[in-house]
Amino acid sequence: MAFPPGFLDEIRIRVSLPDVIGRKVRLIKKGREYSGLCPFHNEKSPSFTVNDEKGFFHCFGCGAHGDVIGYVMQSQNLGFLEAVEQLAGEAGLEVPRASPQERERVFKQKTLVEVMEAAAGFFQAQLDGQAGAAARAYLDQRGLDRAAIERFRLGYAPGFSGGQGLLKQFLLREFPEDMLIEAGLVKKPDDGRDSFDYFRDRVMFPILDRAGRVIAFGGRVMGDGKPKYLNSPDTPLFHKGRVLYGLSWARAGVAKGAQLVVTEGYMDVIALHRAGFEGAVAPLGTALTEEQLEELWKLTPEPTLCFDGDAAGQRAASRGLDRALPLLKAGRSLKFAVLPAGEDPDSLIGRQGNLAMQAVLDGAKPLAEVLFAQELAARPIDTPERRADLTHRLNARAFAIADEGLKREYQYFFKNKMYEQGRPQRANTRQKTVKDRNGRFKPQVPEVVSGARLTLGTQAVERRRQELLVAMVLARPDLLDDHVEEFAHMVLTAPDLDKLRREILNVHAANSGLDAATLQHHLTNHGFVRDVERLLGQQVLAHTQFALPADRETTRLGWLQALTLWHSHLDRAQELEAAVRRFEIEPTEASWARITALQEQAEIERTEQAEFDGATAGWVSPGRH
Ligand code: CTP
Ligand code: MN
Repeated sequence: MAFPPGFLDEIRIRVSLPDVIGRKVRLIKKGREYSGLCPFHNEKSPSFTVNDEKGFFHCFGCGAHGDVIGYVMQSQNLGFLEAVEQLAGEAGLEVPRASPQERERVFKQKTLVEVMEAAAGFFQAQLDGQAGAAARAYLDQRGLDRAAIERFRLGYAPGFSGGQGLLKQFLLREFPEDMLIEAGLVKKPDDGRDSFDYFRDRVMFPILDRAGRVIAFGGRVMGDGKPKYLNSPDTPLFHKGRVLYGLSWARAGVAKGAQLVVTEGYMDVIALHRAGFEGAVAPLGTALTEEQLEELWKLTPEPTLCFDGDAAGQRAASRGLDRALPLLKAGRSLKFAVLPAGEDPDSLIGRQGNLAMQAVLDGAKPLAEVLFAQELAARPIDTPERRADLTHRLNARAFAIADEGLKREYQYFFKNKMYEQGRPQRANTRQKTVKDRNGRFKPQVPEVVSGARLTLGTQAVERRRQELLVAMVLARPDLLDDHVEEFAHMVLTAPDLDKLRREILNVHAANSGLDAATLQHHLTNHGFVRDVERLLGQQVLAHTQFALPADRETTRLGWLQALTLWHSHLDRAQELEAAVRRFEIEPTEASWARITALQEQAEIERTEQAEFDGATAGWVSPGRH
């Protein structure tokens, strides 16, 4: 059976091929294409590719090839008609039925895509004609030249003919009124009055789908009328929450290497593209939806949200962040760039130029940092209770992340940040060591702090403990077979060791059955030669020998014990800091007792550590300090 022209195309526009295939096959995005294991033959390495832009899949292994309809036919063993029916259902389209008369009728029927394209042309022509003079002047005054008007297909919806300019002309061109209403171009009042144009006397911005076809419009008043922007109502082609203004242009831009930037308005997207920021898109006057975020992540792992520095813009950014949190995964996040208060990208580029805009984008911060900064700024943390409250709130935010591994990463990230947050304050309080006028020591914070430091050990000791943990893994990477989770989540306060730890994790993830020689070889070839030397000593490097017990189980238990001791040391340090701060605010006997108890606890742990150090001395060559 033949379908009316455009019908199958409309199915292909409405249904995303990677989405359909992605239900069955794990697809990984590579540039413009996705790849995965071919569903049509058995294979171990992926030779199956999906091109979203062209709407085709192709397997280099077995030669399977086709569009979305072909995919459904082949993967579910359906006939052409059945596949079309299934997809039409998904697309919200009715499959034209096949009596000869009806077929005749649907052949003549114009599709919504055609109506929208015709409307865009109509608005463009109106802008060029007599009625468009004021709109041309308005666009000129906003700095949009002829080239920009053509590039973004700007137009003008006339207000003449009693607001029936488009309606009358399109009826003459044999577009049925029902279809104009369905397309959201014409409105039929409920009270029986005549239908009229939905957009009247407005500058028109066509909204395109990801393939570049017109599916809706935004219309701006030229003066101060309300609403400032009017958007097409939802139609079978257009769902506001699913569409991003500028997506088709940004797709091309991002493919050429542009940064994907989400801004707030039509004019901002246009200004950004004109200034060479070709990855700009905007939602349509609403907060970002999950569907829009998914669209963004199809293009790039870390889109940048660039919202106003004022309160409203920051609220919008914050809503975007809240929406994104549950959806985050490894390698899938957001960045946040903050504009100077009172500017949007359009005004910033106009007033201060491209470099100022570039600087804003270059200053974009990762989501985790923004989240921490938000919670930190929300309330003061000048008491232990308030610090505990911050920790609590941060944990609650981390719990919004559905991905388990990433949730833990966030928790450790926040823990580290809290730890950093505590440090300078400890340094400050130490300066306050004083005697009173009579030369007596007051039972005051400064002594407590210096006492605490003595008990908890110096930085050199802290460093050696962390070095041992990493060095053991260097010498015995098979530790990771049992404890990769612990290694991935352990807290290291020394940035160089932490960097090394991450690299070891990468190498381990990429090599099964990793041995010490391979690991050390990789690290020395990737800029870690000094770290490895320092941790294991030249000797070990040269002979791949080490002094760890031959018995694997003893090594494993030793490593776990070192880790436990280290983490309880960190916990104790944090608790002690909190206790000291509490004592500063409330110098009572109870708060003093808390400090003493913690110090006793720390002393016990110190003894355990000393025993452990004795037992394991010489396991790996100690670093020089
Ligand atoms: N918007 C809307 N309806 C409104 C106001 C705004 O849909 N009544 C949407 C539009 O998509 C607009 C975006 O929200 O582009 C941002 O609005 P705003 O910052 O007010 O406008 P600008 O984009 O700065 O527009 P202009 O520069 O034309 O004033
Ligand atoms: Mn603006």
